[in-house]
Amino acid sequence: MLTLDLGRQTFGDNINVNNVLSRAEVNELLNSWVKNDRLLLHMNQVGYLMRQWALEQEGLSEDEAWKWEMAGLLHDADWDQWPDQHCRLIIEELEKRAVDPEIIHAIASHGPLYFGVEPVSRMDKMLYALDELSGLVHAYSLMRPERYAGMELKGVKKRLKEKSFAANVSRDDIQDACERAFLQLDDLIQFIIKHQGNVN
Ligand SMILES: [Fe+2]
Ligand SMILES: [Fe+2]
Repeated sequence: MLTLDLGRQTFGDNINVNNVLSRAEVNELLNSWVKNDRLLLHMNQVGYLMRQWALEQEGLSEDEAWKWEMAGLLHDADWDQWPDQHCRLIIEELEKRAVDPEIIHAIASHGPLYFGVEPVSRMDKMLYALDELSGLVHAYSLMRPERYAGMELKGVKKRLKEKSFAANVSRDDIQDACERAFLQLDDLIQFIIKHQGNVN
């Protein structure tokens, strides 16, 4: 049986704290690994949400917010071409490039049920929380002619309750992530509604 379990709990090297890629390097990596436009959009959305969350909700600096954004931008980078090695390949690539271990850990823990790595830091927990919910809100936007304009919390919550809507979005993961991050689901949905339309 296919397992995505990473089989380890530590990632990167502490000697690389604060080592980041430039935006151009991230784009280059994404362009060479990801051919699927939908997946690219998903990662751009999650990256943007991570950045805004870091700045607005955590009060972090631009430099710190870029680390959060990087984790979002790259978290599914290997999914398009190598789904059976999802997460392991991007982790190894970022380790090779001596990237800050905090960023690598956030990527490694974005699906605790699959990768066997628990989200620990605030960055870890927010990537886990934003990932699935971002996908559901995006799916909802596509069925609204006005997309994000005028989107309401109750509309999103209604879709969330319909198990057949965006059925690949795990409701269990969303609930689990909110509990771990001490977040109210409503607040998280409002945050995504407010920001996600800026990415296209
Ligand atoms: Fe993923
Ligand atoms: Fe994702």
